[in-house]
Amino acid sequence: MAVIYETAATLNGFLATEDDSLDWLFEIPGEQPDIKDFMDSAAAMVMGSTTYEWVLEVEDLVDHPEKWAASMGRKPAFVFSTRELPVPAGADVRILDGDAGRHLPEIRAAAGDGDIWMMGGGGLAAQFLAAGALDRIAITLAPVTLARGKPLFSGDVFWDRLRLRSAEKVGQWARLVYDVTPAEHGMDR
Ligand SMILES: NC(=O)c1ccc[n+]([C@@H]2O[C@H](COP(=O)([O-])OP(=O)(O)OC[C@H]3O[C@@H](n4cnc5c(N)ncnc54)[C@H](OP(=O)(O)O)[C@@H]3O)[C@@H](O)[C@H]2O)c1
Repeated sequence: MAVIYETAATLNGFLATEDDSLDWLFEIPGEQPDIKDFMDSAAAMVMGSTTYEWVLEVEDLVDHPEKWAASMGRKPAFVFSTRELPVPAGADVRILDGDAGRHLPEIRAAAGDGDIWMMGGGGLAAQFLAAGALDRIAITLAPVTLARGKPLFSGDVFWDRLRLRSAEKVGQWARLVYDVTPAEHGMDR
């Protein structure tokens, strides 16, 4: 079982524009990265509230809850938020607040032996790393830069924490997969 931060990003490390648009991502023509197998195999999802609200909005899932399973599957989704958020009828969405490490046992229990898909954003991914609960980072880099935006990862991660597992060309995209290694030898800054 692994916690995998699987996402797409701009070449200069943004997940979205400052106002959470992903238009720059969906307009790229040609062969597209295919993460369907990964999505199907993940046993649980974890995301921050901005990501969740984007997912709800893009498919109008509050008014059309029957579409939740088609786009997100039947796996439990853990959403970090300090607010009350709408949940599509019938969807297994659990709102969590506070320290990521404190909620890990519940998330791991829900996933069983399966992988956990950390969907982002970068602040939550960094919280999981700090809690010792990020095992892999799989980034598909788009041939796009943005002047500003929501960061892929908040905080420093240095070379001693990342081991390149694979690098692959997918059309005009570059897919990079890193294993996250435990902090060693006092190298954490
Ligand atoms: N390029 C891609 O493939 C891709 C993938 C994923 C996401 N995205 C996009 O990237 C953007 C990410 O947005 P974002 O950086 O704002 O990140 P986010 O993680 O989606 O949302 C951040 C929000 O989550 C809540 N939160 C985070 N940690 C928490 C904690 N420990 N306890 C309670 N609440 C917590 C807070 O909001 P509240 O407390 O106010 O609710 C915080 O403002 C979105 O636009 C998303 O759609 C893109």
